[in-house]
Amino acid sequence: MKKLLVLAWAGAALLSGGMLRAENILLSTRNSSLLLTAEKGKTPLFQYFGARVASPDDILASGAAFGDAAYPQFGAQCYREVAIQATHGDGSMSLELAVESVSRDRRDGSETTAIDMKDKHYPFFVTLFYKTYDDCEVIETWTEISHTEKKPVTLYRFASAYMPVRRGDTWLTHFHGTWGAECYLHEEPLTDGMKVLKNKDGVRNTQRDNPSLMISLDGRPRELTGRVIGGTLAWAGNYRIALDNDNTHTTHLFAGINEEQSQYTLQPREVFTTPVFAFTFSDEGKSGVSRNIHRWARLHRLNHGTELRDVLLNSWEGVYFKVNQEGMDRMMADLADLGGELFVMDDGWFGDKYPRNNGETSLGDWTVCREKLPQGIEGLTESARKHGVKFGIWIEPEMTNTRSELYEKHPDWVMKVPGQDFITARGGTQAVLDLTNPQVRDFIFYTVDTLLARYPEIEYIKWDANMPVLNHGSVHLDKDEQSHLSILYHQGFEDVCRRIRRKYPDVTIQACASGGGRVNYGYLPYFDEFWTSDNTDALQRVYIQWGTSYFFPAIAMGSHISAAPNHQTHRSLPLKYRIDVAMSGRLGMEIQPRNMTDEEKNLCREAIAAYKEIRPVVQFGELYRLMSPYDGQGVASLLYASEDKSK
Ligand code: DGJ
Repeated sequence: MKKLLVLAWAGAALLSGGMLRAENILLSTRNSSLLLTAEKGKTPLFQYFGARVASPDDILASGAAFGDAAYPQFGAQCYREVAIQATHGDGSMSLELAVESVSRDRRDGSETTAIDMKDKHYPFFVTLFYKTYDDCEVIETWTEISHTEKKPVTLYRFASAYMPVRRGDTWLTHFHGTWGAECYLHEEPLTDGMKVLKNKDGVRNTQRDNPSLMISLDGRPRELTGRVIGGTLAWAGNYRIALDNDNTHTTHLFAGINEEQSQYTLQPREVFTTPVFAFTFSDEGKSGVSRNIHRWARLHRLNHGTELRDVLLNSWEGVYFKVNQEGMDRMMADLADLGGELFVMDDGWFGDKYPRNNGETSLGDWTVCREKLPQGIEGLTESARKHGVKFGIWIEPEMTNTRSELYEKHPDWVMKVPGQDFITARGGTQAVLDLTNPQVRDFIFYTVDTLLARYPEIEYIKWDANMPVLNHGSVHLDKDEQSHLSILYHQGFEDVCRRIRRKYPDVTIQACASGGGRVNYGYLPYFDEFWTSDNTDALQRVYIQWGTSYFFPAIAMGSHISAAPNHQTHRSLPLKYRIDVAMSGRLGMEIQPRNMTDEEKNLCREAIAAYKEIRPVVQFGELYRLMSPYDGQGVASLLYASEDKSK
């Protein structure tokens, strides 16, 4: 494969072991370049990001360089928004970061450039990382922060990324919504002042806004033409993306963890690593940015991103909590008859002392409800074998209900303010488990491990999460660590995911969170796909899936044929229309086949067979969004092309 990466070190001398004394650092992909200046003893500078250039001089000599601090700090030069702010152990709030060294590390088709900085007055260190890949157009950036001061340092701002973007007729594209209407497309010109996209849910970070955005540089955003920068924050917790549009004709973009209520006390020698911000440039409009991100996702970020997904039937809208052996067996038979490949039993299968018949009980009691399933999971896997389909199962392992055996045994495992009553959610009894507690993390790992070890025929897990953090407090954390709660929750969550993936690399896992609450790249290294929305109305899905497609590829987008009238909107749409919309993502069904007519079944059977034919193009192909439903013409059209454009 042609080597795409060019790393030019103007005026640089190679020292040893990959250590470089560099001034201008030009990181290029096939179509884009990022130019930084890192001079020892000085603030590193962000000079340029955009269309590919051949050498730093193309930017520096043309007057197009920004010359902005690459990681603006509070303390010295602090008259603007900052990427980092800290209070040292002695109370000083000043940072003055200067370059110590630059290094690069090439491995497995990627290259990571690290700019090490040290404070001029304190043993306080920040490293900026920029990672490029040989085979895609995306650059990842993140930072590491540490110190060896005598006392802890408190971090108040710790962005993953900073980037200046030239203003002109620049437009912002972002994704806003709510439950059942996730990821709606919003576009607006970038006007003077600050625009902030952020989330504080604590558990599900993409229902209201997605931590992804595009900035179109050539006026009103277009799909297939124009220069566009796009970026997405790979973090599952609270985030903050701020666009400071100032009067120097620059938009200053800051992206990272939302630090509000999350100041972090950093102990000497502890390393705080911020999440990755992945960004890209395209001069082929917004669809170009999407194609770059999709490719990066499939090759480098999404679990099993290069393996085809099965056509599945999920039991939720078919039977809701009314799960039983006979009903599941029948659904599996119907699925097989339609040509489907995987059956997923949703909520309602568990709870011994408290059978799960609604949202009020049983989360945490991950044992089969024998009243409903007298033959246990074995009965279900036996049915799956008999009908020749794969079997999957729903869990919500980060949660419990106060009416559960788990809560009765471990009332201190839920997130709550020590010594106070706590607020519950779904069913009036649901609570979030405190993942800062290693015992809780072990329990979650044990839950998944037990299911998968005992029933190796489980090939798919739908991992749900249905409430926000309503109680900011942890019995497990010390007084002075309470502000770490949201960050440690998600670091703990990732820790559990890593353990699960080490032991079970092959199982397919869907990220669901009250529908589309977990559509982000913080999860996707561990998850294979997401449930796009609980709203399965095909007409509304056109808008939801259109918005979601900006940053997430079809292979990851759970998209199901559901009943008419639709259970969320009560609207009836023709089956053919419902099928077409579902086929534009990872096709599945969310319906009771028993209620379908023979004619409807025939149409579904044909659709599944057709989808299997086009599946490689939809799931691995390149997306061209042609006519937008948001343009008010009553039309939406998308095109998927195989990479070599032969299909
Ligand atoms: C919320 C999910 O989004 C639904 O698909 C379903 O799994 C329910 N939870 C089950 O309680």
